[in-house]
Amino acid sequence: MRKKFAMYDVPSLEDAKKRKFGETAVLNFTLDAKFKELGKGKTYVMKAYGCQGNLADGEKISGIMDSMGYTEVENDEEADVMFFVTCAIREKAETRIYGELGRLKGLKEKKPDLRIVLCGCMPQEEVTVEKVSNTYTQVDIMFGTHNIHKLPEYLYESYTKNLRVLEVFSKEGEIVEEIPQKRGNPYKAWIDITYGCDEFCTYCIVPYTRGKERSRNPEAIIKEVSALAKAGYKEVTLLGENVNSYGNDFQDRKYTFGNLLTDLAEIGIPRIRFTTSHPKDLDVFTMEVMARYPNIMPHLHLPVQSGSNKVLKKMNRKYTREIYLEKIEKLKKLVPSISITTDIIVGFPGETEEDFEDTMSLVTEAGFEGAYTFVYSPRTGTPAATFTDQVDPVVSKQRLHRLNEVVNAGFAKGNKRFDGKVVSVLIDGRNEKKEHLLRGYTRHNKIVDLEGPDSLIGKLVQVKITKAQTWNLEGQIID
Ligand code: SAH
Ligand code: SF4
Ligand code: F3S
Repeated sequence: MRKKFAMYDVPSLEDAKKRKFGETAVLNFTLDAKFKELGKGKTYVMKAYGCQGNLADGEKISGIMDSMGYTEVENDEEADVMFFVTCAIREKAETRIYGELGRLKGLKEKKPDLRIVLCGCMPQEEVTVEKVSNTYTQVDIMFGTHNIHKLPEYLYESYTKNLRVLEVFSKEGEIVEEIPQKRGNPYKAWIDITYGCDEFCTYCIVPYTRGKERSRNPEAIIKEVSALAKAGYKEVTLLGENVNSYGNDFQDRKYTFGNLLTDLAEIGIPRIRFTTSHPKDLDVFTMEVMARYPNIMPHLHLPVQSGSNKVLKKMNRKYTREIYLEKIEKLKKLVPSISITTDIIVGFPGETEEDFEDTMSLVTEAGFEGAYTFVYSPRTGTPAATFTDQVDPVVSKQRLHRLNEVVNAGFAKGNKRFDGKVVSVLIDGRNEKKEHLLRGYTRHNKIVDLEGPDSLIGKLVQVKITKAQTWNLEGQIID
């Protein structure tokens, strides 16, 4: 068993909690000459889990690997390096990764030169690092969310010293620009606009794993989106844990999310989306900008988490049910066709039947057209994990089932309103289960299946909806 480390720096959730105010310095990524040939004749497999932020990080890691001469492959057996860009949001996400790592033990024994890399949010937690260091010795390299740009050095150390490499920064460093990003899709792109999160919702691990909220400079974002528009991209999705607080960390200028949306809409890229919005910070200016520009899509994902004021307070969400409902009323006035989706947690510590009923009634009142629903999962290091009034998991499961029924009805209703209508669809690819059908998304983010040739993939087409079902729409292309 190889337990020795060439580089060693462990995380601390306690340190990660601290916040340093002010603007963050920007560093430009460059590849040192000595790493340029490191991957010649070698291959890698990329597995990214969790939120879009992680998928975007996976694209950056792939970009760095390609710049060192590595070739991406699909098959685990063919890989010289394997990446797991991990998510720590719920216990289930972590269990899945441990399962995957467990299965690789045999492969690693057969191929001792294989490098297994664990990165993303999990290595930011002490518990993960301890467990992987001692038990999952098949893992060769571990790094976190703040040091992707140092990957070439980690691989180099691992090859030259044949020791394990572990380096996790608890504190975020500079914003690193110019990391080559290997985009998985030639017409749809994710764009990071902020990194980290300062909200500290009491259940959530993200402020610890991703650090302080830092906004990228508007100039860098505008340059990136302009280049994508020029390259024929049809859609960009702006990413941040709370996009509405974009720019709050700028010291010498006032430039908010609404300003950014305006500048990006003016570029003229056909579709702009963004996620995630925070009900506390969503402002009227942003709503007005959404109403003004037809290339900002009429869909808002606005996580509510709970319909009970008591629970919202304990979650540290900093808004009430009433404020939430008022904001979406205002938005519906400005963008009448808007589709609103949400995230909801059931079984948060102390949630009573009455609190849960408040969530149920809010779902109907708000008219959500979709929701990701979760059973609360305690995360070590977060305040809620220490709350003593944890809800019986059996009760939480029952609540989840009841909630999903109401949510699904909203989903179906949201689709139904497009029955017989003509809508614009960005064709994404083939329906994985029914290969003869193309699949795409409407402006309101509804899924449409339709017949058509492969040549339409990546194109915007006009489609007449012929059937509205709970999970998708069916339609026909009109010329
Ligand atoms: N920044 C975004 C996304 C956070 S993670 C936001 O604020 O919405 C996505 C969702 O996971 C959250 O909205 C929340 O509903 C859920 N979530 C986060 N921590 C969780 C936990 N400990 N248990 C269950 N669900 C959780
Ligand atoms: Fe987590 Fe809350 Fe930040 Fe979202 S806003 S990432 S739920 S702490
Ligand atoms: Fe998961 Fe980290 Fe994203 S915990 S949801 S991958 S920020």
